[in-house]
Amino acid sequence: MINKIQALQAEIDALTVENKDQAEEMRIKYLSKKGLISQLFGEFRNVPAEDKKAVGQAINDLKDFAQDKINALKEQFEVASTGAEGVDLTAPAEGFQLGTRHPLSVVRNEINEIFTRLGFTIAEGPEIEDDWHVFSALNFPAEHPARDMQDTFFIEKDPDVLLRTHTSSVQVRVMEKTQPPIRAIFPGRVFRNEAISARAHCIFHQVEGLYVDENVSFADLKQTLMYFAKEMFGEKTEIRLRPSYFPFTEPSAEMDVSCSICGGKGCNVCKYTGWLEILGCGMVDPNVLDSCGIDSKKYTGFAFGMGIERITMLKYGIKDLRLYFENDARFLRQFQSAY
Ligand code: DAH
Repeated sequence: MINKIQALQAEIDALTVENKDQAEEMRIKYLSKKGLISQLFGEFRNVPAEDKKAVGQAINDLKDFAQDKINALKEQFEVASTGAEGVDLTAPAEGFQLGTRHPLSVVRNEINEIFTRLGFTIAEGPEIEDDWHVFSALNFPAEHPARDMQDTFFIEKDPDVLLRTHTSSVQVRVMEKTQPPIRAIFPGRVFRNEAISARAHCIFHQVEGLYVDENVSFADLKQTLMYFAKEMFGEKTEIRLRPSYFPFTEPSAEMDVSCSICGGKGCNVCKYTGWLEILGCGMVDPNVLDSCGIDSKKYTGFAFGMGIERITMLKYGIKDLRLYFENDARFLRQFQSAY
């Protein structure tokens, strides 16, 4: 009898099953009313009196052993059927991370919002352009160095195809199609043949602005840009316009804002001048209006153009342009914004 019990125990110990149904079959085989262990209890009657205690104990132990083993066999499938073996199903769920907008998109959207509040609409033009829209219509003299191979990516010569070097080309496209009043901004990507470094890249982004109507004055330009600077960099921001030169504007200026990092006192970001240059601007040259089919005797306009990378650098203290293009999630994750 004891041998039989030991043989059964070894058999049960070695049991393996492939699913829950097989485990139930095993329970029936060993533990049900007519199962092998119950049969042992039946045979118990025939055990000599002096062995009854030891044998009875052994059968009870075997029954417990079989019970535990079959429970374990069943449990294994309860976990597996949730599809998560070895996983703590009571653990709280992992939060999932929301994506963030690229900092250049954040700042572009903010620029768009600010000018939209002033009644500007938003338009876009092609990145692949021609000489007329990028240079000639904008009053660049034929031999102007900006057309040089060093700056412009030329794609084809005849017909001429090139990548736009600035978003001023969209001014031309809009004025060719629309008569004043025109009040719009043109955000977009531009291309220049420059070596990539912390301060220069061959692909970057600009926002161009254009306002053409009767009696548009330099005072309108200045007021518009001052509003923009205060909205972008804070209420205390001051602006300063320095005379400059662009072929498509006359007079032309470059605009500085008071350094938002040191408040104008001087620091290494503003190179101890207290001012940061952020854009070029001016009154649209009458030659440009005429080239685009707008009567320069009747209408005047102002235009401006700014680099989004530069404004983003100043706003967020980013020191290397290349970070914008590397898509390193540790950098990008830092920009959570309403825009
Ligand atoms: N297109 C110029 C550039 O890429 C920026 C610019 C300057 C645009 C003056 C303008 C302007 O509209 O009036 O550097």
